[in-house]
Amino acid sequence: MTAGTGPDGTAAGTAPEREPLPESARKPERILLVGMMGAGKSTVGQLVADKLGWGYLDSDAEVMAATGLTVPELFSLHGEAAFRAAETDALGLACASAGPVVVSVAGGAILSPENRDLLRRSGRVIWLRARPETLTARVGDGAGRPLLGSDPGTALRTLEAVRRPLYAEVADDSIDVDDLSPDEVATRIIDRVGA
Ligand code: S3P
Repeated sequence: MTAGTGPDGTAAGTAPEREPLPESARKPERILLVGMMGAGKSTVGQLVADKLGWGYLDSDAEVMAATGLTVPELFSLHGEAAFRAAETDALGLACASAGPVVVSVAGGAILSPENRDLLRRSGRVIWLRARPETLTARVGDGAGRPLLGSDPGTALRTLEAVRRPLYAEVADDSIDVDDLSPDEVATRIIDRVGA
């Protein structure tokens, strides 16, 4: 130690420089919920936002607001590619919106590498993970979800197998929601995020 420096080697009277907190320990500006159709993203997302007093956005709702069409209308009039383009636009706006905000991200948004990259950079990504049987029970006859066709159980199983590694790739954390109520899932999210 030399004259004029404190015991830790910093100039006397100045605070030592601290390492910035790792991202995982900081409160995020956005909580981004990902997962399959039927995982409960919208119900839980709204609950988390209400409990925290944060804003809330749902990517499907943003697509509908921007296009003036429902998701099934967009699929049938313009095709899935047009829906995915509108989804990427909506996600871009949601991820640029001033926080704090909870965003429910529609199930297929993680198919695009651009969207996955955006999600990872935009906040804490939580995967609401559910078994295909749970998803099947929750979506019922699949009304309003054009990808589920006439056999939602088979469609969900196939989609889930393809998408599982993509959800795992973007998620900072995951919650197995099969045996939890929406309120329990919301409470866990808030605990995990430390918000
Ligand atoms: C889709 C999920 C739906 C909706 C569309 C396609 C998908 O949203 O965007 O039917 O590809 O997984 P939810 O995950 O909110 O049901």
